[in-house]
Amino acid sequence: MRLALAADHAGYELKQMTIRHLEAAGHEVVDMGTDSDQSVDYPAYAIGVAGAVAAGRVDRGILVCGTGLGMCITANKIAGIRAVGPCSVEQAEMSRRHNDANVLCLGQRMMEDSTALDILDTWLSTGFEGGRHSRRIGMISELEQSWPAAE
Ligand code: RB5
Repeated sequence: MRLALAADHAGYELKQMTIRHLEAAGHEVVDMGTDSDQSVDYPAYAIGVAGAVAAGRVDRGILVCGTGLGMCITANKIAGIRAVGPCSVEQAEMSRRHNDANVLCLGQRMMEDSTALDILDTWLSTGFEGGRHSRRIGMISELEQSWPAAE
């Protein structure tokens, strides 16, 4: 898979570990920064990765910050992005099976590295079930096109 990754300073270490893990597994990684643990603003990085996913330049995106929350909030502002920040392997699996999530957000300060990698591996290897879930995702897409609703 071709994957875009980015992190802020609070997610830098986990991003670097994640890149090594993904490359060892044979994925193509596009590293969109940041390049150190010097303080930066997470929205710029979330916009970069989410934009690459929305434009189809990569298959999926992975974002890391301290909590995973700011990245997730920002990424979901971009049409076509379904970003999630699962706390468990089960949530990661369901976010793919039912929600066709295309951006994974991780919180470096929230979990052990091994848990983050378990979540990542499950999220990457789980497919979308389609069917009734496609209809529901279509409703989200319609909302993106039509909001704000005409008075
Ligand atoms: C940075 O201190 C922290 O606020 C950021 O990494 C993230 O957790 C925001 O949601």
